[in-house]
Amino acid sequence: MTEEEEWGASYLASVNESGRKDLTNPILYISKWWARRLMTPFSYAIDRMQRYGGLPVNLADAKGWDGVSGGGTIPFVMARKGIQVYSSDINPIAVDLQIGAKNLILNYETIEVNLDRIIKSVEDECGHLYELKNIATIPSDSMACYTYYIAKRWCEKCSSKKHPSIGGVICRHHTESGGLVVCSHCNEMQRVQDYEYECNNCGKKNKASKSKYKNCADCDAKFKPNSEHAIDYIPMWAKWYSRKEKTSGYCQIQEEMEYQNKDSLPAISVSKNGYNTEQIYSHGFKVWKELLLDRQKILFSTINNLIESNSDCSENDKVTLSVMMRGLLEYNSILCEPKGLGTGHIRHAFHNHVLHPKSLVCEPTPFKLSRQSGSFNTVLKKLKNAKNEIISPSIMTRDGKKVTQNLRWDCDAMNSMEITVSAAENMNSMNDEDLDIAAFDIPYFDSVMYDELSNYFRILSTKNSDEEKNWIQVNEFTAVSKGDTQSDADKWGKTMSRIFTHVHKKLKPEGRFLISYHHSKKVAWTSLAGALKSSGFVIEDWFPIWAEMGTSSSHSKTPIRIDLMMIFKKNSAREKTTPKQPLDWIKHIEQCQGNEHWKDVKKLNEKEIECINQMKVFLDDYSSKPTNHGSVSAGN
Ligand SMILES: C[S@@+](CC[C@H](N)C(=O)[O-])C[C@H]1O[C@@H](n2cnc3c(N)ncnc32)[C@H](O)[C@@H]1O
Ligand SMILES: [Zn+2]
Ligand SMILES: [Zn+2]
Repeated sequence: MTEEEEWGASYLASVNESGRKDLTNPILYISKWWARRLMTPFSYAIDRMQRYGGLPVNLADAKGWDGVSGGGTIPFVMARKGIQVYSSDINPIAVDLQIGAKNLILNYETIEVNLDRIIKSVEDECGHLYELKNIATIPSDSMACYTYYIAKRWCEKCSSKKHPSIGGVICRHHTESGGLVVCSHCNEMQRVQDYEYECNNCGKKNKASKSKYKNCADCDAKFKPNSEHAIDYIPMWAKWYSRKEKTSGYCQIQEEMEYQNKDSLPAISVSKNGYNTEQIYSHGFKVWKELLLDRQKILFSTINNLIESNSDCSENDKVTLSVMMRGLLEYNSILCEPKGLGTGHIRHAFHNHVLHPKSLVCEPTPFKLSRQSGSFNTVLKKLKNAKNEIISPSIMTRDGKKVTQNLRWDCDAMNSMEITVSAAENMNSMNDEDLDIAAFDIPYFDSVMYDELSNYFRILSTKNSDEEKNWIQVNEFTAVSKGDTQSDADKWGKTMSRIFTHVHKKLKPEGRFLISYHHSKKVAWTSLAGALKSSGFVIEDWFPIWAEMGTSSSHSKTPIRIDLMMIFKKNSAREKTTPKQPLDWIKHIEQCQGNEHWKDVKKLNEKEIECINQMKVFLDDYSSKPTNHGSVSAGN
């Protein structure tokens, strides 16, 4: 294959990988939340560099580093290719994901046994909390499958806590007409086929419309966020299931639930001044665990205690189990609202990177439910997928049909992979001039506040990663711009420059620096280019590739679904190369799209074209004279 054909095949492979990541990348997706990249673009970039001589043909003696490694995509790609990897990130929650993934690969049998055991114990200890008793309309042995809560808020006009009136459709079914409705006369919840229905409780005729639950039920005033008075979540309805009679239905919950057990989750405060934290603080949330429902606090305390006190588990096993259990939390909180008829369709808050408490919340029962995302069965299913992938690594197409062999996961380089919590600019596990490659998927200029959002998962992390000193560093060092003004950009650029200078110091003279990035705003590119230049790097090669992160783009009309992969050399090693111009790549992609086998690939949108064109900031500079820094030629 020519390089262009290789690139085309990788572009298509990336499209395939971007579909169901729990299937195409089950090991790193054991726990879902982190802005994780696709593996294919990095795998292709490394192969491409090897082909043109940027990396040694034999990678067994090569050393690589990802200093902003997040969920671990790049370090795991490098290790699977045989590179000896240093992986670091400032954020302990991200590092736990990687420790979990590595440990799972090396130790999945122990994990499987312990996970099973813990789930059984949790059910013994907490199962009774989900029983529905004293409700006349349902069989006495019923369990809740789902519990629906309404936000009770402070009404400024009546000056007391009120829950809003609710009527109409609570959630619509995706494929059928109808959905879940609440009768506006008797408040009964029921599933209907058509929005014009007769209430099965009071018999009144209803015409459901969109749910209205924004205003106070008493005075109809609109609720405003109130940082003094936190929201209470009141259970209102349940979907019940009777084990004996094998029947199910919906019912109203009459009493507020009271729990004897107290939760033992850490009380970590929500910062008043933050980009995302301010969002929830303004609704009265002062500690992170308040983002869980009362019963969930007990559930997760129980899980934590069982993991911590398990003497058969090593520290790494504990981290792994805790990471897997985090999966439950991603679908279970007041940040999620019902989207379909169960929680399978709950969109978790972290896709859109906003922390906004919802007015109506659906809590799944984690036991005995098979087809829903917030259940232990799903955790077990994820483990099963991961295990299959470890035993027989494969690449799957989007529809899960075509399977081909892939690189192994359990290889020597995986054993020796070093994973640490560190700011990239202070990472010193490797010697100076030691690395063949540094590969960084750099923190986006201004869109994801990793430092703030990750606090949410501290509730479920083991004591190990939750040392306060780590978190002081997270606040101090996370490189993200909390705005897009020139001065925000300058600040971000300075941080990146410090990081890149450190990379420069750690790379061998002929070492390469691979960066992935995308942004359509010019300021995000000029500050990046400035940072690279001032740290002594010059571009050698680049290419665009498909990189859509699943559903993350659904909230924008013109999402950027490509990444630009850029390869830099040290100025001192500079010799003439001729990277393609943006227009060449744009034309090339459009040409490919004329081919039959590209017919399912989405066309470049205007933002993506803009993004590709931003590469000029590197290339224009390249064709002019070398800078002072750059004139230090090889041999000087
Ligand atoms: C785009 S994400 C990386 C995602 C990763 N490639 C993956 O696929 O999971 C950027 C990462 O940079 C980390 N980060 C930001 N500033 C940092 C710093 N100064 N030192 C180390 N890591 C940093 C963030 O915690 C975040 O995990
Ligand atoms: Zn009714
Ligand atoms: Zn009121």
